[in-house]
Amino acid sequence: MGGATLHDTMSALDAAMVSTPLDVPPVLVKGGVDLGTAYVVLVALDADDRPLAAAHETAGVVRDGVVTDYVGAVDVVRRLKQQVEERLGVAVAGAHGAFPPGVASGSVRAVRHVIESAGMECTGLVDEPSAANAVLRLADGVVVDIGGGTTGVAVVQDGVVVHTADEPTGGTHLTLVIAGALGVPVEEAERLKKDPAEQPRLFPLIRPVMEKVASIVSAHTRGWPTPKVHLVGGSAAFPGFAEVVSETTGLDAVVPVAPLFVTPLGIARSAPALEVGHRSAHG
Ligand SMILES: Nc1ncnc2c1ncn2[C@@H]1O[C@H](COP(=O)(O)OP(=O)(O)OP(=O)(O)O)[C@@H](O)[C@H]1O
Ligand SMILES: [Mg+2]
Repeated sequence: MGGATLHDTMSALDAAMVSTPLDVPPVLVKGGVDLGTAYVVLVALDADDRPLAAAHETAGVVRDGVVTDYVGAVDVVRRLKQQVEERLGVAVAGAHGAFPPGVASGSVRAVRHVIESAGMECTGLVDEPSAANAVLRLADGVVVDIGGGTTGVAVVQDGVVVHTADEPTGGTHLTLVIAGALGVPVEEAERLKKDPAEQPRLFPLIRPVMEKVASIVSAHTRGWPTPKVHLVGGSAAFPGFAEVVSETTGLDAVVPVAPLFVTPLGIARSAPALEVGHRSAHG
């Protein structure tokens, strides 16, 4: 897959987000589970890292890398596994998990247990910025993961994550500011925020939060070489975010296609290819 551009890769993942069964079931599958504050995602790739299937669900089962609702998390992953297997036609035997840098080892273990309780082998665990970089493939640069609860900053040098930081500002804060400014419930604000037709009028309201994210980027990249800043995570999908970060930090910031799925895809890329299993009658 060396020749595929990031755009091609993310588009292929996007195309895999459907329930239409594959014509030919795969023999080997690489699995990745991303337990996020806002979304839980399961990605299945073939042995050459081509996206086969992906599914995601909004779920409040994890908070900033810590599983807060264990039973709920297992249920979500089990449902996603079932959806992915409906498309694959075979069972996903195993998956990698991930953790934000800096979380306690107990929380990392919980990720493993969720994957195992959902009926898969946990093939390993990877830190989130390294997973993102398995997709971005930066030799040198900065990965900024703007998720639901937090913004993670990772400096990459010679292909290796050498410095990380995580700060509690993310998409939830954007939503809360919108809710407050418009006087609407949080659920409505969340819906409006993701509606492309509404985003232009919301932009001025949330620009200060974007500037706060930018200041986090500045603070945690000071003193490091920063050829380019790559914004990933669901919140990076809000149009104009890269421009605000560029203007505020003076750094060159870009957003890939489908930034929400960069880390989940990278988790699956980090996993070994396992032989698929037979689907049980109950799915
Ligand atoms: N099109 C969009 N425009 C703006 N924001 C979006 C869009 N799609 C998703 N989001 C936001 O992205 C956030 C979730 O992103 P992501 O899945 O990367 O976070 P997470 O991994 O669940 O959270 P965290 O990394 O903080 O644990 C949510 O706040 C959601 O509202
Ligand atoms: Mg995340």
